[in-house]
Order: sequence, then C-alpha cells, then structure tokens
Amino acid sequence: MHFTYVNPTQINFGQGQIQSIQSNIPVEQKVLVIYGGGSIKNNGVYDQVVNALKDHTWCEFSGVEPNPTKETLDRAVAIVKEQSIDFILAVGGGSVIDGSKYVAAAAKYDGDGWDIMLGQHRVTSAVPLGAILTLPATGSESNMGAVVTKAETQDKLSFMTPHVQPKFAVMDPDVMKTLPEKQLINGIVDAWVHVCEQYITRRHDAMVQDGYAEALLRNLKTLGEQFDERDNDAWRANLMWSANQALNGLIGSGVPHDWATHMIGHEFTALWGVDHARSLAIVQPSLLRNQIDAKRAKLEQMGKNVFGLAQSDDLAEQAIAAIEAFYQSLGVTTQFSEYENGKEDAVEAVIEQLSQHGMTALGENQAIDLEQSRRILSLAIA
Ligand code: NZQ
Ligand code: ZN
Repeated sequence: MHFTYVNPTQINFGQGQIQSIQSNIPVEQKVLVIYGGGSIKNNGVYDQVVNALKDHTWCEFSGVEPNPTKETLDRAVAIVKEQSIDFILAVGGGSVIDGSKYVAAAAKYDGDGWDIMLGQHRVTSAVPLGAILTLPATGSESNMGAVVTKAETQDKLSFMTPHVQPKFAVMDPDVMKTLPEKQLINGIVDAWVHVCEQYITRRHDAMVQDGYAEALLRNLKTLGEQFDERDNDAWRANLMWSANQALNGLIGSGVPHDWATHMIGHEFTALWGVDHARSLAIVQPSLLRNQIDAKRAKLEQMGKNVFGLAQSDDLAEQAIAAIEAFYQSLGVTTQFSEYENGKEDAVEAVIEQLSQHGMTALGENQAIDLEQSRRILSLAIA
C-alpha cells in the first residue's frame, strides 16, 4: 500500500439535485451543454437544465453517440474554441461524459485532438467541466478517464488526466426512470466488472480495498437479483451510488489492477458495435479461466465473501461459474457469435486490433500476450 488519493469531484446526490448546477457553475461563465441522441428531451432532464441555467449564457451541442467518436466530438471542439466557452456541462451517460472530457482537453490544444488518445500530446490544461449523470455504469462522472473511438479506423482508445476530472457530478436517481432495461443491466454489469478489475488480481492484504470491493459486489449482486424492484427509489439510488463507487479511484488505490477484460472488450465494441458492458461479459469468464492459477487466491476469497460458497478444492472454478451464472441470470450472454465470417476470422480480427493497439502484455502480471489473448478469444467466441 503506497498511494496518493484524491477525488475532487463534488457529488450532488439525490432527487431534485439538477437545480444545484445553478450555483455550481459561476454565473459569468459561458456554458456549452453537451448531450447525446435526445433521451434528455423525453424525460424532463433537458427542461430542468434549461431552467437551472436561466441566468447563464449558454449554448448546446447534441448528437454525441454511444461509444463517442472523435469525428463528432471535433465539431464540439470547434464550437468551444470559436465561442470562447468557459465551462462544459455534460448531460448523459458515460459516452457523453467521456466525449465531453475529450472536448475539454482537445479545446486547449492546437493540433488534432486524437494526438491525446495516442499519447502524442500530454494534456496540461482543459476547459473545466461538470456532469449530470443519466445512466449509472461507468463512473466517468467522478473519475479522470475517458474512452473515445475513431470511427474511420475502428480504434477505441482511452486517456486519463486529472485535468478532465469533473468539478461536480449531479446524481439524481429519478433520471433513471426512462432507462431501457437493457441499459440498467449494462450498468450493473459494467460496475461489477470495474470492481473485479481492481479486485480479482493477487492477494495483497489491503483490507479496506478488499472489504469495500466485496461490499460493492454484494450490492450489485443483490440489485441484479432484485431486478423486479427496479422501479423503486432505493433500488435506483443504490445502483447509482454503487456504480459510482466502483470506479472513483478508492478501491483501486494502492492495489494491483487488471483491466485486460476491458482492453479486449473494447475491440469487440470497435469491430462489431457490442455494448461496452456486454463486451465485458463475453471476455471476462474466459479470461478468468485462462488466468486461474495467478488469480486463484482472490477467486477463492470472492467465492466465499461474495457468493457464500464453502471452501473446496475447486472453489476458484466455482466462483467463475457463479460470475458467469450472474450475467446469464440478467439475460447477458457470455459468448460472442455475431461475427460475419466464422470463428477463426473473428479471433484473428481481435488479435490484429490488440496488436495494433500495443495490447500485448495485459493484466496485473502483464502475462496476457497475444498468444494468451488468442486462447481467451477461442473460449469467448462461439
Ligand atoms: O444518447 P442518448 O439519447 O442520451 O441515449 C443514451 C444511449 O443511447 C441512453 N440513455 C442514457 N441515459 C438515458 C438514456 N436513455 C433513456 N433514459 C436515460 N436516462 O443510453 C444509451 C447508452 O448510453 P452510453 O452513455 O453510451 O452508456 P454508458 O454510460 O454505458 O457509457 C458507455 C461508454 O463509456 C465508456 C465505454 O467504453 C463506452 O464508450 N467507459 C468509460 C469509462 C470511464 N470514463 O471511466 C470506463 C468504462 O469502463 C467504459 O469503458
Ligand atoms: Zn467498463
């Protein structure tokens, strides 16, 4: 345990909190409101934003797509530069918030914003931003990461910098009322895998991180089991807060991280448009089986403390089966079959992408090279 931890995002949690943006954004600042395909126009969120910003000067940019593209976002970058925007307000799910982070950083750079994603430009400043979260899943509302796609080349890459950490996050569970079931399930699965990526590694004896990770996993499991109660206030609030805590930096402080499931999963989204969470459910069980020796101690701990399984010689195997059964109980498939030209082509397509993106030593031990990825994919692709 050796770390520096700060999470400077102010969280405004609860019903009716959207109006808090009125005082959280200085009134003299010119605001660009960024949103997605229009869900906020159908659930009253847009109207609440308009009302809260009545004393501000503001304009808007819409049409940020799920898995946001550089091509779309660069049009917002131009607006920020041309109109001297002082503050960006992201209103949406992970895609809108991630996209807004890219816009915030690219607007302070004279070159092509994609250089940031390639690590060829180091971000040293960004336009300040805040977020109104409408889909609990990614934790993007209070972390410093973002994932952006270049549609032209099917590259889905991530970047991290404290400069794009939101100043505040509004988390009103009422906004979840219009979420399709599919997106609620995606939220449970994405948050679950975020905890796993920071927990199913090797034994490290960091009791706070492990204990809190297990509490979050048990919450998410319960919320999945109580999916029939998704229309109640407590269910919504608990999912929103659990998903946030899963990736706000705390449980990952001072412990090893994996993230191989995410890196391989991103390629399924880039190649075939698989929803982010669903790409994870496809990759993770196969990856855990491939890495079972290195991860055995933590899988056994998870089996006991999350699934309540008894000690046995195959406890780690049982824990993986329980994870897989959890996804399947939510109707989420754990193998991929939507490829065009047969399994071998599909496996090689992902390998080619991983190779191009330098994803050749993944996982907490950097043990997942392309050969191991090929084995994982042979299990994960039907
Ligand atoms: O665009 P609109 O019309 O708003 O519709 C969206 C979108 O179609 C809809 N939606 C959102 N809130 C709604 C709603 N529909 C009805 N009612 C509401 N209240 O949901 C659809 C999906 O939205 P999206 O933002 O794409 O989903 P999510 O939050 O799952 O974000 C996924 C993106 O986040 C990245 C993923 O790679 C993916 O690009 N991630 C970001 C991370 C981060 N920044 O830390 C970590 C994650 O691991 C992840 O990689
Ligand atoms: Zn994720």
